Amino acid sequence: MIKIAPSILSANFAKLGEEVKEVEQAGASVIHIDVMDGHFVPNITMGPIVVEALRPITNLPLDVHLMIENPDDYIEQFAKAGADWISVHVETCRHLHRTIQLIRSFGVRPGVVLNPHTPIDSIQHILEDIDFVLFMTVNPGFGGQKFISSVVPKIESLSKIIKERGLTIDIEIDGGINAETIIPCAKAGASIFVAGSAIYNKENRAEALKEILDAGEA
Ligand code: DX5
Ligand code: ZN
Repeated sequence: MIKIAPSILSANFAKLGEEVKEVEQAGASVIHIDVMDGHFVPNITMGPIVVEALRPITNLPLDVHLMIENPDDYIEQFAKAGADWISVHVETCRHLHRTIQLIRSFGVRPGVVLNPHTPIDSIQHILEDIDFVLFMTVNPGFGGQKFISSVVPKIESLSKIIKERGLTIDIEIDGGINAETIIPCAKAGASIFVAGSAIYNKENRAEALKEILDAGEA
């Protein structure tokens, strides 16, 4: 079962509500919200106020990807704004286990994100505590970048570990996903795919989404 999570980073912010409804009707499973602080990544995007505004607009889970320093300071605000999933970068967490527990304490699904170069060893001892792992297949900060294929072996290795340990953890992929790049990632064991520019930069979003979904399910 492949799930597509359109990233609103590439949507038209002047009509964000409609942009979210459009992809929901087109068969999206999750709405991906990229939060950037201008410190951890060289870009600034949106905060809890956007999550709060979108909450009544859609029935889909809101997947909040925190690309911020000191994520602990903002988790409560995002949870109360209506986030269903919150993921934090392992590179930003000095006490990852504590951060994951904090996310779960609000009834939100916790996930951990790895930059393209970050080894999966860094999350070996947190796997029992998380619901999903998000692999970055671009350097975080911007939509529309090129997929980094050297991440695929990491996805394969983690899938194997998850199976061996009998865990139920979803693998989500973020960055440069389109109808071609989804194929090796799905084969490697990922099931949730963020797509920003490959959906929102297209004239026919429904068709673009379906094309990516079909390629992933093939
Ligand atoms: C990048 C963000 C991504 C971005 C993906 O830092 O985390 O979610 O929106 O955009 P595309 O699909 O265009 O690479
Ligand atoms: Zn993202």
